[in-house]
Amino acid sequence: MPDTVIQPQIPITPVTAEVLEQLRAIVGDKGLLIDAQDKEPFVTDWRRTRSGSADVVVRPATVEETSKVVKLCYDKGIAIVPQAGNTGLMGGATPWPAHRGIVLSVGRMNKVLSVDPVGYSMTVESGCILQTLQETAAAHDRFFPLSLGAQGSCQIGGNLSTNAGGVQVLRYGNARNLVMGLEVVLPNGDIWNGMRALKKDNTGYDLRDLYLGAEGTLGIITKAILKLWPKPKDNATSWSAVPSPQAAVELLSGAYAASEDNVTSCELMGRQGIDLVLHHIRGTTDPLADKHDWYVLMEWSSTRPPREGDNSATLRDKMEAYLGEAMEKGLVLDAVIAQTDAQSKALWALRENHTEASKQEGPSIKHDISVAVSKIPPFVPEGLAAMKKALPGCRPLVFGHVGDGNLHFNCQAPAGWTKPQFAPYVEPISGAIYDLVTAYGGSISAEHGIGRIKLEELAHYRSQTELDVMRQLKRALDPHNIMNPGKVIRV
Ligand code: FAD
Ligand code: MLT
Ligand code: ZN
Repeated sequence: MPDTVIQPQIPITPVTAEVLEQLRAIVGDKGLLIDAQDKEPFVTDWRRTRSGSADVVVRPATVEETSKVVKLCYDKGIAIVPQAGNTGLMGGATPWPAHRGIVLSVGRMNKVLSVDPVGYSMTVESGCILQTLQETAAAHDRFFPLSLGAQGSCQIGGNLSTNAGGVQVLRYGNARNLVMGLEVVLPNGDIWNGMRALKKDNTGYDLRDLYLGAEGTLGIITKAILKLWPKPKDNATSWSAVPSPQAAVELLSGAYAASEDNVTSCELMGRQGIDLVLHHIRGTTDPLADKHDWYVLMEWSSTRPPREGDNSATLRDKMEAYLGEAMEKGLVLDAVIAQTDAQSKALWALRENHTEASKQEGPSIKHDISVAVSKIPPFVPEGLAAMKKALPGCRPLVFGHVGDGNLHFNCQAPAGWTKPQFAPYVEPISGAIYDLVTAYGGSISAEHGIGRIKLEELAHYRSQTELDVMRQLKRALDPHNIMNPGKVIRV
């Protein structure tokens, strides 16, 4: 969508020819992108709705190089936009149009440094692709649970800096919960070594937690020690048509006990999203014969392998029994349970491709909201009514992590509309949704962060006290305002 946010004041010191040579001396030719064509993917966001500029894209290969680059920028007052996989949905990794400084991409720092299967941890550089980390853990019979649609291209530095959520938060928590130690290059170029593989550490303020979710405004994460879990050995995936969000919440509520506390994911989807995915994403098929208004994708997993000759049921058997009971109660209208890994993947593809299908369909507004799980049933119809009141022809696209109370309460423009046609409706629609979320005691950003897109909303919906503390933190830790300036909070 076109930017409705007024660009904040940011430092606009250019990268002079002299500074460029100093950067080249630090990172070499391989670490610099100067041509407009080479820089383009780094100054445009994933949705291609926001763009900006940068004099240079700098790609250091080590923490030492990163530190020297940041120190140089600090001395010269040059602004830095940290970037990892550039899949963020709030424009946090995209420079503002007035930006003259650098984009600092961590993508060349992409080594897994060690895996400790006994201590259930893994030490990695921040440019590692999330899927690579999942695969590395699996190769050691361990499990790294962060899982989201962009996992083939997002990088762990970006995941940690956005405190990413995804589809397994229900069981394992969001990114913040998956980290033990961090290494961060501070805005003055100093390196903070917080690489402690400790589960317990109460020595003073928790600096690690400060950088997790800071969206690159307080420093650059260069390494992390991640927690690992035992690898699941028994899985069950089901796709259920349910009559309402109320039924979805009740289905989940009973599933905790029925699965013996093995629920890993619970995702809700409206029919509109399924139609978009079936239309745009090749190879996807509708698992059920009839169309329904709402669907629940549920995953159960256990580290206990099904044992031959053992009479105790597999998770799939237990899930089948549970869904059978739920059908009798009217909570489920129809359902399928995946019998193979391929069938499970096909069901997940219907869920994970919502974002891609929505992008291909045309303009949309993202409302990444959360309310208490028990408030989802009244919130959904009220939210849908509010959206329709603001623009009767709009197409609500509601899906997401219902088990966390986090729905992507998105709004697709009427079919065939252009961005300029849709633009005047963005503020009224979002305002109506966010006011409702606030009345429900919820959050206007459950997992994607603030970036540059929700600057005004953060300022509007957070209290003066909270904003003052955030501003004081930012000023204290980044006195020259060079670290991702004009993102998250105006200083
Ligand atoms: P980037 O986009 O490069 O950066 C994100 C932010 O972090 C920016 O503010 C940037 O400045 C900062 N940053 C990046 N690297 C560093 C670093 N090393 N140090 C300091 N700051 C840094 N998000 C979810 O939470 N849950 C989902 O389920 C989910 N699904 C998605 C599905 C799709 C198809 C897509 C495209 C996106 C989805 N996202 C989701 C959003 C996005 O993938 C996540 O926010 C992800 O964590 C961003 O990682 P990245 O490497 O792409 O970061
Ligand atoms: C997802 O869960 O797929 C993304 O976070 C949602 C979105 O694109 O709004
Ligand atoms: Zn999500």
